[in-house]
Amino acid sequence: MHRMQGIEGVLGTLRSQALSAPESGIVELVNAGREQENLIPLWVGEGELPTPDFICEAAYKSLRDGETFYTYQRGLPELREALANYHENVYGRPFSSDRFFVTGSGMHAILIALQATVSAGEEILVPSPVWPNLAACAGIAGAHPVFVPMQFSEGRWELDMELLQASVTSKTKALFINSPCNPTGWVATRETLAELREFALKNNLWIIADEVYGRFVFGEEKRAPSFYDVAQDDDPILYVNTFSKNWAMTGWRIGWLSCPKGMGQIVENLVQYSTSGTAAFMQRAAVAALQNGDEFLQFQVEKAQRGRALLTERFVKHSRLNLSMPDGAFYLFFSIDGLADSRETAFAILRETGVGLAPGTAFGPGGKPFFRLCFARDIGQLNDASRLLCRWIGD
Ligand SMILES: Cc1ncc(COP(=O)(O)O)c(C=O)c1O
Repeated sequence: MHRMQGIEGVLGTLRSQALSAPESGIVELVNAGREQENLIPLWVGEGELPTPDFICEAAYKSLRDGETFYTYQRGLPELREALANYHENVYGRPFSSDRFFVTGSGMHAILIALQATVSAGEEILVPSPVWPNLAACAGIAGAHPVFVPMQFSEGRWELDMELLQASVTSKTKALFINSPCNPTGWVATRETLAELREFALKNNLWIIADEVYGRFVFGEEKRAPSFYDVAQDDDPILYVNTFSKNWAMTGWRIGWLSCPKGMGQIVENLVQYSTSGTAAFMQRAAVAALQNGDEFLQFQVEKAQRGRALLTERFVKHSRLNLSMPDGAFYLFFSIDGLADSRETAFAILRETGVGLAPGTAFGPGGKPFFRLCFARDIGQLNDASRLLCRWIGD
């Protein structure tokens, strides 16, 4: 190859999709403010508590026992069995452990789901505002996310089925549904999920069902409606999930993918050629989380519920704040009258109050006027943050 002049010339020969991959608009804020004094970081989706001891102990034991070798690409049989049992308990029907694959995070499950379904030049429908990583990941592969704006009116987010249908082209290959939704808090009803399944079957689409916040709901139910409630086991649906949120394991990087029968070798290959498997000690910790983590999960949900109550009560009263009551996940997604550019404003709020918010600009079309705040956190922090914010906004 002809030797280019200087680093610019060298970088210019990288793949255009790698060059144009967007910086995460959430991480941009975090990088700018992580060392700031008096910081109240509500910008990313995690609490302030470390992973519970009983989970860490299982990892220590595994390491002490010498489990330091290459391991199963699909995941340890014990973990896949524990996943099947967990799903049986949560969804109230039998599951085969064959459908579960351990991944190196929820994000890695998304990568594999995309690699399995959408080729370069093809399209995936993505209702937005939406957590940005799936669309960026599709873009890097040369595929095209087609955003379908959700409607926000009278304090509620709705998915417009007609708009979804109108967005289908001959290149559409898949549909991404994240319910409960990060950032809006929207939770699809069972009827909507049934409709979406019908829509996908009719249009020959795969569904990538991101149900990572499925346990974070704030009514009487112990979980959100799921595609598992309305789908057959052999439907073309790939379920993405993670240990990150339920069991305070965001830093571990371990998740799972659930697939229809017959995909075993395909997923095994995709794992082989990306991470080549998840460390055994992490998988032992994941087994402990599934088998003994109910009480901790319950505590996490109740904590998020208290945070949600405190913030919504305070924000609803504020004349310049507009918000929807989140039915699930653990984010408040709100706009401030008179402040249309959330990126610029989030930087100003960070500088002037120390409160770290994620700007809605990070969440695709429809997000720009909004801010996302994580309320799965210490109530004292939320109390301080909400006072600082209300004071900063004024009346
Ligand atoms: C909607 C959604 N899906 C997937 C993930 C990925 O989770 P992780 O990669 O931390 O396991 C996140 C994390 O914030 C998320 O919000």
